Amino acid sequence: MSNYHIKHLEEYFQVYRKSTNKPESFWDEIATEHFLWRKKWDKVLSWDFTKPEVKWFEGAKLNITENCIDRHLATRGDKTAILFEPNDPKEGAQHITYKDLYHRVNKLCNVLKSKGIGKGDRVCIYLPMIPELAISILACARIGAIHSVVFAGFSATALATRINDSECKMVITSDGSYRGAKTIDLKSIVDEALEDCSCVKSVLVTKRIQTEIKMKEGRDEWLEVLLEEASDQFVATVMDAEDPLFILYTSGSTGMPKGMVHTTAGYMVYSAYTFKNVFQYKEHDIYWCTADIGWITGHSYIVYGPLANGATTVMFEGVPSYPDYGRFWEIVEKHKITQFYTAPTAIRALAKEGVEHVEKHDLSSLKILGTVGEPINEEAWHWYDDNIGKKKSPIVDTWWQTETGGIMITPIPFSTPTKPTYATLPFIGIQPVLMDENGKEIEGNQADGRLCIKFPWPSIARTIWGNHKRYKDTYFSAFENMYFTGDGALRDEVGYYRITGRVDDVIIVSGHNLGTAPIEDAVNEHPAVSESAIVGFPHDVKGNALYGYVTLKETGEGRNHDNLRKEINQIITEQIGPIAKLNKIQFTEGLPKTRSGKIMRRILRKIASKDTSNLGDTSTLLNPECVQGIMDKAL
Ligand code: PRX
Repeated sequence: MSNYHIKHLEEYFQVYRKSTNKPESFWDEIATEHFLWRKKWDKVLSWDFTKPEVKWFEGAKLNITENCIDRHLATRGDKTAILFEPNDPKEGAQHITYKDLYHRVNKLCNVLKSKGIGKGDRVCIYLPMIPELAISILACARIGAIHSVVFAGFSATALATRINDSECKMVITSDGSYRGAKTIDLKSIVDEALEDCSCVKSVLVTKRIQTEIKMKEGRDEWLEVLLEEASDQFVATVMDAEDPLFILYTSGSTGMPKGMVHTTAGYMVYSAYTFKNVFQYKEHDIYWCTADIGWITGHSYIVYGPLANGATTVMFEGVPSYPDYGRFWEIVEKHKITQFYTAPTAIRALAKEGVEHVEKHDLSSLKILGTVGEPINEEAWHWYDDNIGKKKSPIVDTWWQTETGGIMITPIPFSTPTKPTYATLPFIGIQPVLMDENGKEIEGNQADGRLCIKFPWPSIARTIWGNHKRYKDTYFSAFENMYFTGDGALRDEVGYYRITGRVDDVIIVSGHNLGTAPIEDAVNEHPAVSESAIVGFPHDVKGNALYGYVTLKETGEGRNHDNLRKEINQIITEQIGPIAKLNKIQFTEGLPKTRSGKIMRRILRKIASKDTSNLGDTSTLLNPECVQGIMDKAL
């Protein structure tokens, strides 16, 4: 059982060296000893970043659900696999054992099969955080269908775009969802989306909020009715190592969302191995990640990573503020959570509400705290360390991305000394480098540059669905023979990494990646708008918030600007979702442009951040005179 569970710093360095000196033999050993294969691989790794092409465990045959469920039945059949905590605490938690999970996934596989879903078909899952979401994911994986989970906060238009891009044959959804004291009518969002999706042949609807909804004859069916008839036995489809497991959309700086494709074997090995070590998971732990499964964090560290280790993973349907701001801590106390993994935005929001909510609860079960999704500021880090971890639970600040599939830079708890705001050291097998603007690697410590990875790891996304060229252009063209992350980072005197943020036009708002171009497209759809530019500015809870500069076609004083602001945000909500709404909208006479007509966002960013002492050289602008006007009216 060597190298699977790292327990101290020296061991980390030793295993790290092995993983980078001899990656093939290292991953061969991990994969051989800790997973269930129908057939072993012919070759551990082949790769070429110029194409780009990466293959891990080529020739191997497996099904990931046999690793996440079947192999635990003999020893952990009655252990809770998924601990479901509902939106309303009065409803009571549900414990779904590995045995229950096995039967429920099998039943759904039989339903999928009866609806004509088979290997390679795409299934869109648009569900709230209820057990059916994890079960749907696993059923797709078991039958060999490719799941594409769309976060249930996205609008009908955003959902339709994603369904059409990967030509999903089926949508799995619910009648609605709970969000604190509110309910959301998910089914009608699906109905609206499907007006534009001819590829979808069937819709399975699970009952959650028991509301009256419309069912379309010949297309929509109640999932519970179909499940009742279905057998609870299903033999998993044998998959090739490099068969796609799922597609997950992430925002790019331009254009359509990118459907990142993850494949089976490498993703399984890496998500499981990172889970074990980053959370130092032990058999009786109760692990809770508060992310939504609609994002990669939920895929890798609520579903696949924990289940592959036979863990108990908590799924929380609600929000941190309902019924009050003590909800997270109440859950920690109630289920005796041992590892707690959340986002800086949640920490900041809860810190703002004061420690009274924390102090009412016994948090002594906690051993390890985690954070992910955006840089954590020093204040939030200390609040988390002092009040939640009581200075005894190490904080793992985990840096990674949808594209990386698993955690890339992180402390190993109880081994790596932590340092506020630093993700610290690369995980086993990960070779980060910092590059300068001329494409040269910056050697040595105390450096600052663009973060790239120079060697493949098992869970790297293999392509963008239907657009390999975009995959190459986005990740493998900025620097030769490197994967470019889009992030800036610095390396301190001991080699610890600190992620400083995006260096492209992606803005992270409350931990959600938002590309500016699609939001600008939405704003420009308003008939009164001539053009717009969106930038981020610092926000004390969300990390960043969105600032829109909008030039109107007619600048008549008579216009009601407040109404216009509402209308613009309404269009954004319809096109993308409420997460992309603009916090501030400033109406401008014009936008600063370069002589080639490009909007100078650097200047707009500074104005939005109230950092106008040094705007840099504006003399090359086509219209430098507009800058003062924008500054005078800044919000
Ligand atoms: O900018 C980095 C930031 O989130 C981006 C990836 O977002 P997404 O694909 O949605 O995945 C988020 C969950 C893995 C990164 O490019 N990011 C993520 N984790 C951190 C972070 N920034 C700083 N520190 C982190 N720990």
